[in-house]
Amino acid sequence: MRLDPTDLTSRVRAALDAAWTGRYAVPSPSAYPWQFLWDSCFHAVVWAALGDDRAAVELASVFRFQSPAGFVPHVAYDADPAVLAPFWGREATSSITQPPMYGHACAELARRGVDVPGEVAERAAAGLRFLLGRPRVAGLVPACHPWETGADHSPRWDDWCPGGFDPARWYDRKGELLATVERSGGGDPLSNPAFVVAPAGLNALVAFNARELAGLTRDDALAAAGDEVAAALEEQWDAEAVTWRDAGPRAGGSGRVRALDGLLPALVSDRAERVAAALAVALDDAAYGGRCGPAGVHRDEPAFAPRTYWRGPAWPPLTYLLWLAAGRAGDGAAAARLAAMAVTGAAASGLAEYWDPDDGTGLGAVPQSWAGLALAMA
Ligand code: GLC
Repeated sequence: MRLDPTDLTSRVRAALDAAWTGRYAVPSPSAYPWQFLWDSCFHAVVWAALGDDRAAVELASVFRFQSPAGFVPHVAYDADPAVLAPFWGREATSSITQPPMYGHACAELARRGVDVPGEVAERAAAGLRFLLGRPRVAGLVPACHPWETGADHSPRWDDWCPGGFDPARWYDRKGELLATVERSGGGDPLSNPAFVVAPAGLNALVAFNARELAGLTRDDALAAAGDEVAAALEEQWDAEAVTWRDAGPRAGGSGRVRALDGLLPALVSDRAERVAAALAVALDDAAYGGRCGPAGVHRDEPAFAPRTYWRGPAWPPLTYLLWLAAGRAGDGAAAARLAAMAVTGAAASGLAEYWDPDDGTGLGAVPQSWAGLALAMA
């Protein structure tokens, strides 16, 4: 199925309109009726691509529960503050964060002519400084919980699921891993002795967002902190697997499984040959490549399952991030292919949460607001 650009625009607008709450769009009114941090940052980019003023409104809204130390919770439940309070141990929000895509969102909105108030940029900087201030693992920022990466069931976490990955076991384990998060006096998440992982993907996004924001605000200290993380990431390059490993005790185990988020350091690496190798495997049909977007897991991995949540489908935010990496590398051909894949997959899936990388069969929630990223790439 093919969509002309006007049709894609109207379908994306309709999906976001239906998901709009007055301050932000939920990812999916039926499956995810709350605000999610990185989703809202991506929505802001999509609103900007639509030329809609809600871009600035949604971006500002992600900070409304930011802690004094800069921590930004990854889910906000304002519509029903008590709903998961027993689970999170607090009302109205979760107690962990998600990739800090607000740095990119600020920069991208500004590039698209949207006014980003100084207060929003300052809150974004505070969010990044909070993450950069966590006690490091091999020079990198740790995730306190698998959910903080956005890639909930990535095979990168399999060594942290006793007995090996199994959806039911992993569900229970994720609950347990919340209890072991170590927090500041103010309750902000800092580390987790039961999940010692500094993911390549999350660190690439910390460094990328720091650089993006610093480019907008001319914050030299933030730029230097981003550069430092980018340099530490290079130590995790694994030439044999063509990926960047997750640092921590499982770096040589599930920390080097070929999952697509392990290629995100292509967003910040200064090693042109590594960036080129990462983009090449992302596009190679015998590796991750697919007609509707790179698969979330390399096709030769035992874990690869093209229709299973985070274990093989194409995910719009990851395709978008690799498209940004291709643009930064000046590889217009790779960027054009990634954009075409995203548009094909978004159309075939009916703007799904994620989809089969080969035929675009829609998976998860349909429609899901972030599938509109295809429009930002088109
Ligand atoms: C799932 C995804 C996460 C996303 C959320 C809302 O939990 O794993 O990345 O933020 O859904 O879309």
